[in-house]
Amino acid sequence: MKTKIIKINPKKPEISKIKEAAEIIKKGGLVAFPTETVYGLGANTFNQKAVKKIFQVKKRPFTDPIIVHIANKKDIYKLAKKIPKRVKKLIDKFWPGPLTLVLKKRKIVPKIVTGGLETVAIRMPKNKIALSLIKESKVPIAAPSANLFGRPSPTTAQHVKEDLLNKIELIIDGGPTKIGLESTVIDLTTRPVTLLRPGGITLEKLKKILGEIKIHPTVFKKTKLKISKSPGMMSRHYAPRANLFLIEGEEKKVKNKIQQLIKKYKKKKIGVLTVNKNHFYKADLVKFVGKDFSTIAKNLFKFLREFDKKNIEIIFAEGTDERDLGLAIMNRLRKASYKIIKV
Ligand code: TXA
Ligand code: MG
Repeated sequence: MKTKIIKINPKKPEISKIKEAAEIIKKGGLVAFPTETVYGLGANTFNQKAVKKIFQVKKRPFTDPIIVHIANKKDIYKLAKKIPKRVKKLIDKFWPGPLTLVLKKRKIVPKIVTGGLETVAIRMPKNKIALSLIKESKVPIAAPSANLFGRPSPTTAQHVKEDLLNKIELIIDGGPTKIGLESTVIDLTTRPVTLLRPGGITLEKLKKILGEIKIHPTVFKKTKLKISKSPGMMSRHYAPRANLFLIEGEEKKVKNKIQQLIKKYKKKKIGVLTVNKNHFYKADLVKFVGKDFSTIAKNLFKFLREFDKKNIEIIFAEGTDERDLGLAIMNRLRKASYKIIKV
């Protein structure tokens, strides 16, 4: 298959181009498109064959459920049932936006979308291209991030190309994504509500509306290392090919530890991901990822991919604190890590 790539203006999406993409969705094809978080790989939610192709193309296990994207808040009632009252407040405040709600699913949602679960994850993205693509397709669009399973999520069309070229019908290039990290996922079928994945909408903001929130233990854990069936690919998440060591702790200690590690591994090709503009690291590739959380979020996945392009073998990453977007940043770094070192 040859993948077509079309540029669409993110501020004023050209309707003829959106229609062309929507036609592919309607016919059961796959379209990669930008959202405000990361690029998604979309298919018609109700077309099981098309959804199955998403899993195959990404090499994603069928047990990992996919988010359904809608363009109209009211569509949540068509897809989910027993919706708690608090949901209205949440969608009034945060939709369109990077918040995904897990709710009891209606029969209309195929099990292949939900990984066999009785729940469905739904979100309304805040991106004009995404919204008009969903509208023109006239169906909700099931879409995971448009990367190969385990790789960092794509924040540009170029990243999508690296992972999925000639495996899908179309890539829409709508420029770099605004946020750079995926949406926050919360489960509303539990009491209190459970945070499953921290993301674009912070825990602090959610607590203001929901009060108590339970944090799922995996939020703080790194993904278990195991060799997957496809050669060379680990089941680590968001991971570059290099082994990433995450160093957490007080700033000065972190810096010292990284200096030590650079010496220890001097025979390897070393990359460092730092939150300090003025650093003294002497490594093969040092990337200043940003000082404030929103810049770090925006750059993180892009830089992880850049280390790969430069054939870096080991990455040392400085941890950051876990307020606000910091919780999502640290979650992604932990999941990407080969080893976590606390100093
Ligand atoms: O920002 C985003 O959320 C992006 C854009 C494209 O919308 N999408 C995204 O999808 O990150 P994906 O598939 O890479 O991550 C979806 C997460 C997974 O961790 C999945 O396990 C969880 O949402 N999820 C989906 N449906 C679920 C369900 N019914 N119950 C629990 N978790 C669910
Ligand atoms: Mg993903």
